[in-house]
Amino acid sequence: MEKGAFKGKHFLALEDFTPEELRYLLDLALKLKAEKKQRVDQRRNIGQNMLMLFEMESTRTRCSFETSAQDLGMGTTYLSNSHFGTKETIKDSMRVFSAMYDVIAYRGMDHAQLQEMARESTIPIINGYTMHEHPTQMLADFMTLDEVYGREGYKGKTFVYIGRGGACCAFSYAVACAMFGMNFKFITSYMTLDEAVSRLSPEEQKLFYQEVPKGTPVAGWSGAMPDDQKKFIRELYAKYNPQCTFTETEDVNEVKGADVVSTENWGFFTNKAITWLPGIVKYKKYQVNRELMAKTENPNAIFLHMLPATHNADHSAARKLVDSVDDPELKKFLEKGFEVTDEVFEDNAAYIFREAENRQHTIKAVTYAVLGDDVEG
Ligand code: CP
Repeated sequence: MEKGAFKGKHFLALEDFTPEELRYLLDLALKLKAEKKQRVDQRRNIGQNMLMLFEMESTRTRCSFETSAQDLGMGTTYLSNSHFGTKETIKDSMRVFSAMYDVIAYRGMDHAQLQEMARESTIPIINGYTMHEHPTQMLADFMTLDEVYGREGYKGKTFVYIGRGGACCAFSYAVACAMFGMNFKFITSYMTLDEAVSRLSPEEQKLFYQEVPKGTPVAGWSGAMPDDQKKFIRELYAKYNPQCTFTETEDVNEVKGADVVSTENWGFFTNKAITWLPGIVKYKKYQVNRELMAKTENPNAIFLHMLPATHNADHSAARKLVDSVDDPELKKFLEKGFEVTDEVFEDNAAYIFREAENRQHTIKAVTYAVLGDDVEG
């Protein structure tokens, strides 16, 4: 690929690009990381400005955009409570932003809104997470795998994503694996809400139904990837890596053969504690612990986590939940971690925090590329 090929383009989803184009971004990120380690002056974008428009909370993504922009010599604005999307049309806001800035980093729920923003914007927009996809996170994960296995050493290996897939994470990993050439297994629970609630004590069931009246749909309850997403993934595999496999199952034993295991925060930290219990019942057996890692039958299997993680009860949201649980066995289980145990997390901390650091280098690569990486400073 030629330098400057990304200039002016939006970076909204991995599938908008070819595997070769994504590979170019990974190689650029590796180069920028090496430069930073050598304290090379990276201020190639002096005089340019980045708007970070964040409608959801963030630690890594925000810090990565802000430090990347500063390393590149740019100015930044972090905007989290403006008229955008409420008292001003998207079209009008985008006309303002396009006049003042050179690039926009966006985090919000609604991918259709991001696409509308992109249509109205005359400057590139980078997706910092929507409910559709988390593409910059995927670049950081594959950069990490480049470093673990050697450049493209991930090809043909098996990535297992287990537990609560959410609307975005399992799909994002599946798209990335299809494009970069890894087998992908999604292991998740199909347990219904009624079944999960039936496993609570009579008192807990009563308290749950007081908060969530019977029949109320619970957003994000279904573990399975929607059929249209699965069809899309199969088409991507057929197009780019037909030799690789893609499966979804409820069976935790299917973790056998994994080279990389990953999961996501269960995220049951909103509303009253009682509303979290059915989700814990649903995903408990999908916790990544040493027994589960042993089931891979691969002593070299590694664990990645995009963070934030709940690998013990030492943050306030986890503490609140654990303290509200009456069942001593469940309490003991949760003290050791939610989606991943402290043991597995700490065993793999070197990979996990490398993955977090690589958010910065990959986001810098995307920022530099969409601004025109033919500019050398
Ligand atoms: N992984 C990730 O996107 O982290 P933040 O939510 O902290 O940005």
